[in-house]
Amino acid sequence: MRCRSSLIVALTLLHIHLFFPFVLPFVAYPSGPHAEVTGACDVSGSGGDAVVVRREEYDEGRILDITHRYREDMPAWETPDGLGRFLSLSQSVQNGSVMSFSELKIPVHTGTHVDAPGHVFLHYFEAGFDVDTLDLHVLNGAALLVDVPRDKNITAEVMKSLNIPRGVRRVLFRTLNTDRKLMWKREFDSSYVGFMKDGAQWLVDNTDVKLVGVDYLSVAAYDDLIPAHLVFLESREIILVRQLDASLSNEKPGMQVTFSMGVESRETK
Ligand SMILES: *[C@@H]1O[C@H](CO)[C@@H](O)[C@H](O)[C@H]1NC(C)=O
Ligand SMILES: *[C@@H]1O[C@H](CO)[C@@H](O)[C@H](O)[C@H]1NC(C)=O
Repeated sequence: MRCRSSLIVALTLLHIHLFFPFVLPFVAYPSGPHAEVTGACDVSGSGGDAVVVRREEYDEGRILDITHRYREDMPAWETPDGLGRFLSLSQSVQNGSVMSFSELKIPVHTGTHVDAPGHVFLHYFEAGFDVDTLDLHVLNGAALLVDVPRDKNITAEVMKSLNIPRGVRRVLFRTLNTDRKLMWKREFDSSYVGFMKDGAQWLVDNTDVKLVGVDYLSVAAYDDLIPAHLVFLESREIILVRQLDASLSNEKPGMQVTFSMGVESRETK
């Protein structure tokens, strides 16, 4: 049952893949808390020995899945309890149904996802600016991986120091959150690193970045939660992607990667 549930979850995940256009000298994707790749699973119903392989890396690292798989112990906003039970099996071949059928119940901001302009602006919410209105050109294409200095939130000063070239439209910000493995701790931690309002403003004013990816629950630091979101989402041009698995520890910052994403969740209306 665990295996079957997981399969359904995998199908519902938002998928973000990084495509490396050239052969890279790094070793295999690191094993760690995120690398649950195998587990025996009886899929035949008769004691079969099929083994589930949950791949996060393909073609020796040319393609990496940097989404997080939904897990009951993944962190959730402002709770020590994590996501909790989110999947139930309403029909099962194990007890005579012709198919297994699971039901998923989660907040739309769970796991790797994007923010809609309606998330923080009432007038956008009322006008219907949900995630269907986001530009797929922005969600697909080359992205830059940058390392944020580990002792700072993303302020204007930090943004300036990162020297992101003009013309770069997508950036994944890898921060202390990744080093602290915060996405692997059930308990919500408000001391995560994110954008301060002035950092968001600096990005809007001085870069061409339209896709901002981060490695914990929110793009904005807890202390500047709403102000930073307002700065980012006002123009409806910038797409915020949260809860990426940026533990690409073998990748060098500055690497150009291709980013593609299918959007499946929408802000509730
Ligand atoms: C059938 O399977 C479902 C899912 O495992 C379970 O909740 C339910 O109780 C089962 N019903 C019977 C009659 O065994
Ligand atoms: C980032 O900001 C949060 C508050 O939003 C704070 O708790 C944390 O210590 C800051 N992190 C760093 C590395 O400065």
